[in-house]
Amino acid sequence: YLQDFTNFPMGNIVSAFKLSSTSSANVDFREVLLNDYNSITAENDMKMANIFTSAGNYDFSDGDAIVAYAKANGLRVHGHALVWHSSVPGWLNSFSGTNEEFEALIEAYVKATVSHFAIEKDANGNSIVASWDVVNEYFDGGSIRSSIFQQKIGDDFIDKAFQWAREADTDVKLFYNDYNIAGEPNKRNLIINKVNSMISNSVPIDGIGMQMHLNHNWPTSDLPLAIQQITDTSLLVHISELDVKANYGNDVTELTATRAQEQADQYQNASYHYTNIVPTAQQYGITIWGVRDQDSWLYDGGGDWPLLYNNDYSTKIAYDSFIDGL
Ligand code: XIL
Repeated sequence: YLQDFTNFPMGNIVSAFKLSSTSSANVDFREVLLNDYNSITAENDMKMANIFTSAGNYDFSDGDAIVAYAKANGLRVHGHALVWHSSVPGWLNSFSGTNEEFEALIEAYVKATVSHFAIEKDANGNSIVASWDVVNEYFDGGSIRSSIFQQKIGDDFIDKAFQWAREADTDVKLFYNDYNIAGEPNKRNLIINKVNSMISNSVPIDGIGMQMHLNHNWPTSDLPLAIQQITDTSLLVHISELDVKANYGNDVTELTATRAQEQADQYQNASYHYTNIVPTAQQYGITIWGVRDQDSWLYDGGGDWPLLYNNDYSTKIAYDSFIDGL
């Protein structure tokens, strides 16, 4: 099983529904999950749009169900994601109060959510929710993304969010998470400079999540350099959302042997460079963004096959290649 090949946590994503559904597909899902993985991330259930129902009101029920499952089965939960431009509840998107009022709502949200999920502990007294992606995708290509948070709070909403999270829980690990860190050198430099300035200004940050949404044909050469540069910050390094599109460009109608091999090579690059470049003490783990192809956010109605398992939960050649790279 995957988790037996690593000294760091191996993760995958869940929903409260999949953890409780009695359909045979979901029973099989949980068997694979518990065999192969020891860390879980909520694919959507712990995002702001799902929790923040109205000013001062939070629905933690799906997150609580995930935490209870993790506690019962000895899994780590990585919290995802507190502040993300893509998960803003509708009522907040159309908020018409002042910027100060908006900021107060976000501060209250971050503190309430981090505090709530700090309550459940394992037998050793450690929080089941061990970490949070505090800010997701702050940068957009070569600049700070123009988001509702950036517009109403300012560029320093990122520093504030990390400070609010730390005030709510002194122990939980706080991560910055983003995509294309290997594929976009400009973005990578912005992230590294920002993180280094947060560290020198004593803004609390513990780790960086490299999402790692890869494609069968890119990126290739920059991956080890990117992992090395992220590692050089001395923070924890999490490959947080690994998947590999096999049909980038939609130019094939099935997973051909060539594409399956290219995909397997990309998975192996990720596991190989992660284990060989990141020192053990900085290895927070590798989380794969889905189990079966058909459950992937990139499945595209059968037009892509981004994950390690076929739809019947049999493993693809990428699964063995990923293990070979560990
Ligand atoms: C995706 C989920 O997989 C989808 O189900 C949802 O519709 C949108 O979000 N980067 C992230 C993740 O940080 O939260 C995203 O997850 C994928 C991209």
